[in-house]
Amino acid sequence: MAQWLDNAVFYEIYPQSFMDSNSDGIGDFNGITGKLDYIQELGCNSIWMNPCFASPFGDAGYDVADYYRTAPRYGTNDDLKRLFDEVHKRGMHILLDLVPGHTSVEHPWFLESMKAETNAYTDRYVWTDHVWESPEGMGFLRGISGRNGSCAVNFYSCQPALNYGYYKPERPWQQPMDAPGPKATVEALKDIMRFWLGLGCDGFRVDMAGSLVKQDEDGKGTIRLWQGIRAFLDEEFPDAAMVSEWGEPDKSLQGGFHMDFLLHFGPSHYNDLFRCGEPYFSKRGKGDISEFVETYKENYGKSAGKGLICIPSGNHDMERLAKYLQGDELKIAFAFLLSMPGAPFIYYGDEIGMRYVENLPSVEGGYERTGSRSPMQWDNTPNAGFSRADTGRLYIPLDEKPDRPTVQAQMADPDSLYHEVKKLIALRQSHPALQSKGRIDFLHAESRSYPFAYLRSAGEETILVLLNPSGAPASFESGLPLSEKLYSFGGDITAQDGRITVPAASFGFYKV
Ligand code: NOJ
Repeated sequence: MAQWLDNAVFYEIYPQSFMDSNSDGIGDFNGITGKLDYIQELGCNSIWMNPCFASPFGDAGYDVADYYRTAPRYGTNDDLKRLFDEVHKRGMHILLDLVPGHTSVEHPWFLESMKAETNAYTDRYVWTDHVWESPEGMGFLRGISGRNGSCAVNFYSCQPALNYGYYKPERPWQQPMDAPGPKATVEALKDIMRFWLGLGCDGFRVDMAGSLVKQDEDGKGTIRLWQGIRAFLDEEFPDAAMVSEWGEPDKSLQGGFHMDFLLHFGPSHYNDLFRCGEPYFSKRGKGDISEFVETYKENYGKSAGKGLICIPSGNHDMERLAKYLQGDELKIAFAFLLSMPGAPFIYYGDEIGMRYVENLPSVEGGYERTGSRSPMQWDNTPNAGFSRADTGRLYIPLDEKPDRPTVQAQMADPDSLYHEVKKLIALRQSHPALQSKGRIDFLHAESRSYPFAYLRSAGEETILVLLNPSGAPASFESGLPLSEKLYSFGGDITAQDGRITVPAASFGFYKV
């Protein structure tokens, strides 16, 4: 595994909304390049950038029309190469977003595949052998061309599913994984990866990584497919880093991914922490962290030594953290995010508590996700410093509230969320025990109970992490004395006869 992942702290950039350098109302590569110092000063040393390839943008770029060319609205391939170079000059790394499961309906492969006559792309997508055949449980496109068949879609109907085969084909049109069509799709995918890794990107975040092989049995086919890609990477790009949108680390890490995300859907209980009626990190103190911890422990056990489980502050698909948490609650949530194993991912703007913008009209297939994709708020100049375009031309409207947080205001305020996040990253970076591979042992994570306590350790060092987001002091039997304090926030944490009391809305890090 690439060594830089040991202390990687990622920053997710939604390129549309980060920084507009040419005043057309939408973010671009040169805008990002101009803000790398900001990301580095915050303490993040790695970037994941959402899809930036040519696309009709039916799903914000997750519908690729040309895998080898950047979308002109973000700049040229050369501008992207310059971004890679500037990232590397700062000792940082950058992952592109790879969308292997589907293309846009406008991709030339699909235009060929739709044709009635057999050609090199006939089997590039999952097609049935008759227009009236479209099995239940999958979306299909039909009646769209002269080809007598329906084509499976993966997400929206503008995203036809690429053909990686069926684990156990049952119908005549379902091809096995080793049929020529699926094999050619895998080779095409490797070529795309080769191209961007060759140009200087450091790896990929992989979209819907667990869904490539159809009618899969427990992910077995898709795992095998990724193992083949891992072997190719080991040979040609051994330092490339891969993170999957899969949400089942026991499977994805077996497939050769270095990291897997906890997702806001699926079995992880991630939403119990921040995004539910009573989030654990709310000061109401009515949340429950126990099921999250039980599931985490199970996954951690299965993935130990194989790779990392990554916890994001948010992403472009879920509501912003600040919709549910405010003030100190956000600081305590970040104390958790930045002290867990695996590489943390900070979604742009979460470090200043950017809000979820309610009731925005859907932009490019965003629907309710649009509210989490609004422009970065840099300062108090027009358009919050994001763009010099007329406000009406912005890709997505800004948070219009007069008290919207900005980077400038938070940098000037030593008590801001920005400064807390920065301090927490610095703390993590000065203690290997708090970094990606440091071990975790949970001490107190009881049902409907506070505080939340765990030990992180690496080599000779063990650090006790104590978090109490609730509005009342909370204590537990730890059997541990409180020795050297590394860092704390809120009131004074005390220990008496092995019982530790953590004041309301506070957290602390202690050497054990
Ligand atoms: C997951 C991506 O994060 C999301 O934004 C996209 O719409 C779907 N996959 C489809 O590619």
